[in-house]
Amino acid sequence: MSKAKSITIFDTTLRDGEQSPGASMNIEEKLRIAHQLEKMNVDVIEAGFPIASEGDFEAVRRVAKAIKGPQIAGLCRASNKDIDRAWEALQYAGERGRIHTFIATSDIHMELKLKMSEEQVVEAAVKAVKRAAGYTPNVEFSAEDAVRTRLPFLARVVEAVIDAGAKTVNIPDTVGYTIPSEYFNIIKYLKDNVPNIEKTVLSVHCHNDLGLAVANSLAAVQAGAEQVECTINGIGERAGNCSLEEVVMALRTRHDIMPFKTGVQTEHIYAASKLLSTITGIVVQPNKAIVGANAFAHEAGIHQHGMLMDKSTYEIMTPESIGLSKNKLVLGKHSGRHAFVQRLGELGYDLSKEDIEKAFVRFKALADAKKEIFDEDLDAIVADEIIRVPETYKLLQMNVSSGSFAAPTATVEMEVDGKVKKTATMGDGPVDATFKAIKKLSRTKARLLNFSVGAITGGTDAQGECTVRLELDGREVLGQGAHPDIIVASAKAYINALNKMATVAQRTSIHL
Ligand code: KIV
Ligand code: ZN
Repeated sequence: MSKAKSITIFDTTLRDGEQSPGASMNIEEKLRIAHQLEKMNVDVIEAGFPIASEGDFEAVRRVAKAIKGPQIAGLCRASNKDIDRAWEALQYAGERGRIHTFIATSDIHMELKLKMSEEQVVEAAVKAVKRAAGYTPNVEFSAEDAVRTRLPFLARVVEAVIDAGAKTVNIPDTVGYTIPSEYFNIIKYLKDNVPNIEKTVLSVHCHNDLGLAVANSLAAVQAGAEQVECTINGIGERAGNCSLEEVVMALRTRHDIMPFKTGVQTEHIYAASKLLSTITGIVVQPNKAIVGANAFAHEAGIHQHGMLMDKSTYEIMTPESIGLSKNKLVLGKHSGRHAFVQRLGELGYDLSKEDIEKAFVRFKALADAKKEIFDEDLDAIVADEIIRVPETYKLLQMNVSSGSFAAPTATVEMEVDGKVKKTATMGDGPVDATFKAIKKLSRTKARLLNFSVGAITGGTDAQGECTVRLELDGREVLGQGAHPDIIVASAKAYINALNKMATVAQRTSIHL
C-alpha cells in the first residue's frame, strides 16, 4: 500500500475559470465540461456562483443534478441571501453539495472594499459558516486575499470558522502575489498556530499573475495543504489560476520527492483541455506545459536521436499518460461510421446518437473535399456541429468575388431571429466585405477587436480555422469557425461570436 498522502483536487474551471475574459459558457457547455471533469475523477467541481445570475444558478443546479461522482461546490459571499441561494441550487447533489462562502481578510480589502473592522469580518465569517452548516456539513470557507493578510489575524479567522463548522478552509492568493517560500511559510504558520487546524482540510487557491501559481500550490502542499484549487488550462481571472494538468502531472511525475497522490485519471487530461479550448475559443499556447501542441514534440536532431535510442533520455512523462495519442492520421473518404465513432471516443467525445449522426454527415462532406482527416479536423467538426451556442444568427449561403481586378464583393444570406435576410456589400478585401455584410444583416453594434486565421492541419486542402474577438459594452467573446474555404470559415467565426454575444447579453454577472 502506498503511504502517499491524498490531495483533494478542487476544479474551479466553471467558476473562477469562467471569469477569464471571453470564457463565458452556456449551461450545455458547462455540463459538457462537468461530465469531462467527472470522467477525470476530480474530487470537487465548483460549478458557479449561484446568486450572480439566473444563468449561473441554473448551471449549478443542472450540474448538481447531473454529476454523480465528484462533490459540487457553489460560491457565495458571506451573506444570508447568497448562502440560501447557493443551497437552493446545490441541494440536488445531496451530501456531495458544498457551500463555499468567502469574505476578504486583508487590511487593504477590509478597509478599502468592505469598509469593515476585523471584529466585523470575523463575525460575518462565523455567521456565514454557521448559516451554511445549517444546510450541510460540507462547508468551505475562503479568506479572500489571505496572502496579504496579517498572519495572526488570518490564524484568528481560520480558528473561528473551523469552530463554526468549516470542514475546508481555503487560503487564496487572490492577486497572484506570493512566491513559493512565502506561501510555504503561511501554510506552515497556520498548521503550527491554529489549535483546531486538524479538524479541517486546508486548501490553497493560487492565481498566476507572476506565473507562480503551480509552484506556489506545490510549495503549499509540501507545507501541509491538503486541497488544491485549480482550472483546466489554467484559465481564470487576469493571468489565470493554477493549472490542473500542471499541478497533477507535477505531483505524479515527481512522486519521488513529493509523496502525494491525487485521484485524477490523467489519461483524460488532454481531452479535457481540448474540450475547454473548443468551447471557449481560448487557444492553448503551443509551448504550454503538458497540453500545448509542442509539449511532447522533439525537434532538435540531438533530442530526436536520444529519443530513438531510449525515450527516457528526453521524456519525463509519456504523451499517453495525458491521453495524447500519437496516431494523428485517422480517417479518410472510405472510413465507415464505426471507425469514426471509435475515433471520436478515443478523443474523449461522448456523443449522443443524434449528435454522432450530425457529425458523421459533416465528416463525409469534409472527406469528399479533403483526402486525409486528422484528429484536429474531428475536433473542428465537433466544435462546429455539436458544441454550439443557441443560434440567433445562422449563415445560410454566401458567395464572394475577389481578386486583383474588381472590388471584393460578398453576398451573404443569413437567418436573423428566424427571418431570412440577404445583402451584398463591397469591402477592402474578401473578409472585410463578408464582415460588412454580416454586420449589416445582424445590425450588431459589437466592435471587432481581433481576427486571426490559421490552418487546422498541414497541406493546401487543410481546413482554415478562424477566430474572431468581439466587444460590446465591455464584454468580450471569442468566436471560432472552420471550413476548407477560409472566407466561409471567417464568416462562421464572426457569426459564432455574435451568437455567443447574444447568449452573454442575456446574463448579468456580479464581479468579485
Ligand atoms: O481568488 C480568490 O480569492 C477566489 C475566492 C473567492 C476563493 O476566487
Ligand atoms: Zn480565485
